[in-house]
Amino acid sequence: MKKIKITDLIAKKNREKIVMITAYDALFARLFDDYADMILVGDSLNMSFGGANETLGISVDEMIYHARAVQRGAKRAFLVVDMPFGSTITPEISLKNAVKIYKNTLCDAVKIEGSKEIAPTINLLNQNGIAVIAHIGLKPQLSRQEGGYRVVGKDDKEAKSILEDALALESAGAKMVLIEGVPSDLAKEITKALKVPTIGIGAGASCDGQVLVWSDAFGFYDEFRPKFVKRYMDGANLIREAMKNYADEVRNIKFPSSQYEYTK
Ligand code: KIV
Repeated sequence: MKKIKITDLIAKKNREKIVMITAYDALFARLFDDYADMILVGDSLNMSFGGANETLGISVDEMIYHARAVQRGAKRAFLVVDMPFGSTITPEISLKNAVKIYKNTLCDAVKIEGSKEIAPTINLLNQNGIAVIAHIGLKPQLSRQEGGYRVVGKDDKEAKSILEDALALESAGAKMVLIEGVPSDLAKEITKALKVPTIGIGAGASCDGQVLVWSDAFGFYDEFRPKFVKRYMDGANLIREAMKNYADEVRNIKFPSSQYEYTK
């Protein structure tokens, strides 16, 4: 079992797709580690794990707590931790928070949502030895300001601006660019224009890799399914069924049977 490094991921560009998934705890990180190249402790944990309807409420300390759990489970995959809302408001504040995340977890990179204006932040973190993944396109941390989520880059002006974001953030030192919620043609153009790998979510098949939020991909969150999410299992119903069986057996005094009892 060899730990995956940034150089391994960069070498995959134009050769082999990169597989990324989120995880928020050791249990699932351990299960994903054999198959994923990258594990993201995303601020989506505020929704998926925390039950909120947006990512904004999570703190740096909470991200660190979950990242430490994930790192105990993931020994092989490249580990990325999201910098949460409010932790990147200036380059200096970003550096302070990124150093805190780096020192308190064994993460391999941090991910920052933003457009071309975060280039100085990425540059400063890079100069200080912190690998950054830039998250462009649809930015969930703006959901409150923008009144929800929408696919971006559908018109030429917005598409041009997102391509400029990608190029500016690569020039600033981003090791990879994650592209969320854009038309697939635009993601293809960005992927061709960049030397670093792109990871897509809701961005079509041309990116160098793909990421999904695990609870969406495995059907544990079944209240709403965005168009880009494929469900690889019906997790919620499997758990409901197992929980119902357990509850029925306890109520009907079928569990614990003698097989599960200690004897003198
Ligand atoms: O927080 C997260 O899980 C993310 C993914 C949606 C890419 O940023």
